[in-house]
Amino acid sequence: MNKHILIIGGTRGLGKVLVKNLLKKKYVLSVVGRTAAFSRRAHPGIVYWPYDLRHTQNIPRLISRILKAKGKLDSIVFLQRFRGQGDAWQGEIDVSLTATKIIIDSAAGHFNKKGNKTIVIVSSIAGSLIVEDQPLSYHVGKAALNQMVRFYAVKLAVKGVRVNGVSPTLVLKPESKQFYLKDKGLYNLYKAVHPLNKINTAEEVADIIEFLMHDKSRAISGQNIVVDGALSLQGHESLAVKLNNFGE
Ligand SMILES: NC(=O)c1ccc[n+]([C@@H]2O[C@H](COP(=O)([O-])OP(=O)(O)OC[C@H]3O[C@@H](n4cnc5c(N)ncnc54)[C@H](OP(=O)(O)O)[C@@H]3O)[C@@H](O)[C@H]2O)c1
Repeated sequence: MNKHILIIGGTRGLGKVLVKNLLKKKYVLSVVGRTAAFSRRAHPGIVYWPYDLRHTQNIPRLISRILKAKGKLDSIVFLQRFRGQGDAWQGEIDVSLTATKIIIDSAAGHFNKKGNKTIVIVSSIAGSLIVEDQPLSYHVGKAALNQMVRFYAVKLAVKGVRVNGVSPTLVLKPESKQFYLKDKGLYNLYKAVHPLNKINTAEEVADIIEFLMHDKSRAISGQNIVVDGALSLQGHESLAVKLNNFGE
C-alpha cells in the first residue's frame, strides 16, 4: 500500500518542492494550504484540502475528513508559516503553533500500525538566532516549535512516532531564486559568508525532510537539524575577515 503523507503548507515554496519530489515516489499526499498548487487532474496522487489554519477550532474536523478520505497516516510534515493580513503576532501563534498542536493531537492516534511513523516540523534558524527582516512573532513561533519537537518526540515515542525538526537558514526556492540571482552582489555576499560557499536550495532542504521521514533515520527523534552548512558556527572575527576579503 502507498504511504499516506499529510503535508501542511505544501502549496508554495519549500512545501511545493517537497510535494513535487514525493510525487515521483508514488505516495498518497494530502496537502493543506489556502490554495491548490497543481491541478488535481495532472496529479491524481494529491488531494488538496483548502483550509485557512487561522480557523483553529475546525481543524479536528478537517483531520477526520482527511483520514476518512485517505486512511491512516505514515508521516506529517509541517511547513506552514503565517502569511497574510492582520495581526502578525496572533496569526503566527494560530497558524504556526496552535494549528500544529491541534493537528498532532488529532492525528497522533491515527498512524498506520506498521512501518515508519514520523512527524517533521520545519522551523528556522530564527528559532535560535535573530533574523532582522523577520518579526518577533516569527522568532517566538520558531523557538516554540523547536520545543514542541522535543515535547512530542518524548510524548509520542510510546506510539512509535518519531518527531524531528529542520531549521534552515536562507533557502533559494523557485519563487525567490530570480530575486537573488538578479542581484549578483548580494548573491555573492551570501555565498561568501557561507562556509560551503553556497545558498542552500529548497530541493536540498526537501531531501533532509525526506531523510527524516525515511527508515534510514530510524534512530533519530527529538532533534532539530540545522541546515546552514555551519554558517551559524562562525565567530564574528571569522565573518569580519571574510567580509574584509570579499571582492578581492
Ligand atoms: N524560505 C526560506 O528561506 C526559509 C528559511 C528558513 C525557514 N523556512 C521555513 O520553511 C517553511 C516554508 O517556507 P517557505 O519560504 O516555503 O514559505 P511560503 O512560501 O510562505 O509557504 C508557506 C506555506 O504556508 C501556507 N500557509 C500560510 N498561511 C496559511 C494559513 N493561514 N492557512 C493555511 N496555510 C497557510 C501557504 O499556503 P497558502 O498560501 O496556499 O495558504 C504555504 O503553503 C516555513 O515554515 C518557513 O518558516 C523558510
